[in-house]
Amino acid sequence: MIRFGVIGYGYWGPNVVRNLDGLEESQVLAICDKSPAARRRAQKAYPGIPVTADAGELMSSTEIDAIAVVTPIWTHFELAKAALENGKHVFVEKPFTNTVAQAEELVNLAEHKNLKIMVDHTFLFTGAVKKIRQLLQEGTLGKLYYYDSTRVNLGLFQHDVNVIWDLAPHDLSIMDYLIDKSPEAVVATGQTHLNGFEDVAFVTVYFPEKIIAHINVNWLSPVKVRTTLIGGEKKMLVWNDLEPDEKVKVYDKGVSITSRQDLYELLVSYRSGDMWAPQVEQTEALRLELAYFIDCISNNHAPFNDGAAGLRVVKMLEAASQSLNKRGALIYL
Ligand SMILES: NC(=O)c1ccc[n+]([C@@H]2O[C@H](COP(=O)([O-])OP(=O)(O)OC[C@H]3O[C@@H](n4cnc5c(N)ncnc54)[C@H](O)[C@@H]3O)[C@@H](O)[C@H]2O)c1
Repeated sequence: MIRFGVIGYGYWGPNVVRNLDGLEESQVLAICDKSPAARRRAQKAYPGIPVTADAGELMSSTEIDAIAVVTPIWTHFELAKAALENGKHVFVEKPFTNTVAQAEELVNLAEHKNLKIMVDHTFLFTGAVKKIRQLLQEGTLGKLYYYDSTRVNLGLFQHDVNVIWDLAPHDLSIMDYLIDKSPEAVVATGQTHLNGFEDVAFVTVYFPEKIIAHINVNWLSPVKVRTTLIGGEKKMLVWNDLEPDEKVKVYDKGVSITSRQDLYELLVSYRSGDMWAPQVEQTEALRLELAYFIDCISNNHAPFNDGAAGLRVVKMLEAASQSLNKRGALIYL
């Protein structure tokens, strides 16, 4: 049994508490939130769990094995550091930290203390991403050409970060998981319209072997879109996360050049075959992720979405911020 303290009971925190409370191998011993309204909601939903405004109480508790940090990004480093210093494993929300230096410090601290960090890259535990990874690993798509994602909606405006730090960690963590190569460079452009933080942005990530990734993130979209195109030499796929059933569709489509002798004699042949929608697991991703975290702690395994994975995503985010400040300069990683 792993005993948790959860810090942050705003929008996402209740999902973490519900899943931890529902798993057989975990127990929530305390919930902490600075906001009285959040504490009232937590107390009403879980009358048996003590609720406090003081994170220090969770840190110093000898009963608690692990802390879930589900607070705004700027607080992650301080809270995760305190948890590690107090000998607790840490489940921390995405993006891991505000800076690369902070992420490195936490990774080193956890290693030194022999504690686990898991960064909540929830999408890696969805049936869709698992299926896409399987298709890539089995070679169904062939050599990867590109990853192109649109993740747009109206709001929710964040008060501490721009739209890249809010929404792009999802795609960056998915790319980190799917693409078996380290990114080489990042370009980001965007614009601020309302609260001083970029609300519309476009990020391009260059990988070796001509793999290119593009992410369109936007808080000013009239409609919600969660669509990713992944193109390979043999097949291409569309992942529409808003589809209730057939989220992933694989297309037997492609282009090949059959003659190269003379530029004017290039024979471009287009292949347009069948489309199929593979079966995708439906279990709630966060539940699977937290069960995996508990398993990693119990069996002393490093999670694949550990602090190092969180750090890789923060490196891309930091590079994107540098590029954004220079109106789209190429930043090498
Ligand atoms: N994995 C996902 O899919 C996913 C989805 C949504 C949000 N998130 C992440 O979860 C985190 C929280 O986001 P949210 O949308 O729930 O934010 P939120 O603002 O709705 O909630 C955060 C809560 O933390 C509390 N809080 C802040 N500082 C605190 C402190 N020092 N001690 C105790 N309580 C404190 C606030 O009072 C608030 O209730 C962010 O990092 C966000 O990126 C992840």
